[in-house]
Order: sequence, then structure tokens, then C-alpha cells
Amino acid sequence: MEVGALMEIVIQPSYEEMCEEAFRSLLQEVKKKPTLVLGLATGKTPAGLYRRMVESHRSFRRMRFFNLDEFFGLGPEDPRSFRATLKRELLGPLNVPARNVYLLRGDVKDPNRAAEAYERVIHAVGGIDVQVLGIGRNGHIGFNEPGSSLGSRTRTKTLDTKTLVDYAGIFASPDEVPRFSITMGIGTILEARRILLLAAGRAKADVIHRMVEGAVTAEIPGSVLQLHSRVSVFLDEEAASKLARREYWKWIYANKWRVGQ
Ligand code: GLP
Repeated sequence: MEVGALMEIVIQPSYEEMCEEAFRSLLQEVKKKPTLVLGLATGKTPAGLYRRMVESHRSFRRMRFFNLDEFFGLGPEDPRSFRATLKRELLGPLNVPARNVYLLRGDVKDPNRAAEAYERVIHAVGGIDVQVLGIGRNGHIGFNEPGSSLGSRTRTKTLDTKTLVDYAGIFASPDEVPRFSITMGIGTILEARRILLLAAGRAKADVIHRMVEGAVTAEIPGSVLQLHSRVSVFLDEEAASKLARREYWKWIYANKWRVGQ
């Protein structure tokens, strides 16, 4: 059994330094297991981590890749789909063979069947080794919106009004944002062996405080990560600005080598 912090909080001065730390953690895992199964979040936040993977010119071609969520109704070629974004920004540049890529599609006829099949494939490859996550301003992880069942599996999920507003920018108007998504469930996410959650900017400060220092509640789905045994939360100063124990977390991270971590 590995010894380690349950929820490790890593606060860095800037977004770029935060991505660098997350990249270092991921690399350590890949060195241990070159065929690592990686779950990918989309959204703005992990872009700097993915850019580092691409710019490192290392080979990640033996890894297997899953995505966390997708807008229901968007075809795989739609540039706004998470699938297209991940292919454009990460999987294409990394030259990952198609046999190692398992991405949810938004244009499936029967999303419930697709969701069940996705769970079976995750199981068949031995489970997710490392899951990259972001967090929504309303506390969602993946598209598990507030009120989601804490034991949920991959399924369709109706998007919350806050999420529709947040995505209005990449669609022509809030009305055009798809109302449904397909997302790994909270239960699915909790089964990942290691979780790297990234959050940056002042807009995330409130939710990070509630996720890390508040109660575990379905109202803030990210708070359930307090129950996971290996989570690292990477933050820039702004996202960490409302943590009551900010200085404590920083001290721990700087001194963890003293206890052999
Ligand atoms: C989105 C996605 C998540 C993402 C999160 C944060 O709605 N469903 O996968 O992690 O919200 O997005 P961002 O990093 O752009 O703030």
C-alpha cells in the first residue's frame, strides 16, 4: 500500500507553475506504468498540462486515454465537442494510436447503452489509473452537476443553469448550449486510482474553499473527493485565495519530504 496524503493541496504562484507541478506528478506515474490509463477532463484549466505533454516530446503512445464527459448531441467532428478538442490539442499532436483512445461520443442514438458500454471498457482495461479533473463554479466534476448521486455511474446528465451560462461563450448563445451531457459518474471517478484536480483563477476560489474545507455534499460534487485516498488538488494563488488553511497547505507541501513523501 502506498502511504500518502489523502487530499494533497498544491498551491503555486501562477497558472503555468501549477500546470508544471501537475505535469511532474503525471510523469512520475507514467514512469511507473508506461501503459497508464488516463482519464481526461476538457475545459480551459487542463490545457496547460496537455500542452506540456505535447511539448515534452516524450512518447505517451502506449498510454490508454478516456474522456470524462461530452455534450450530448454534438458529433465527433463538431469543433466544440470535447472529443474534437482533445484530439486537436492532445491526442493528435501526441500521435496516439486509435486503438488506445476511448472517447465518449455525443451523437450516439442510445446514450444509456453507450454509457454502459463505456463502463465495461473502463473495467476491461483494468480501470482508470489517473483521472485529470477540473471543477465547475457550481462544484461539478465532469458534468456531475449539484445534486448528482454520489454513487452515480456513466450516464446522461442535464446541465445546470450556471454551466449553460459558462459555456455560452463557445456557442452562439446560452440557448444553443446542449442541455444534456454524457458524463462518467461520481462513483466511476472515485474508482480512479489517483486523481489530479486542477483549478485556477478567482472565479474558482469559493468553490475550492467549499470543496476542500466544507462538508461532503452532493450540492458540491467535488467535495466527495475528500473520501478518495489519493487526490492532489493543484491550485494557483487566486483559486486558493479563500482557503482558510492556505498557509498550512503550503507548509505541508514544502516539507513533506521530511516525512518521506
Ligand atoms: C466543464 C467540464 C469539466 C471541466 C469543468 C471546468 O463543464 N464538464 O470537465 O473540468 O467544467 O472547466 P474549466 O476548466 O473550463 O473551468
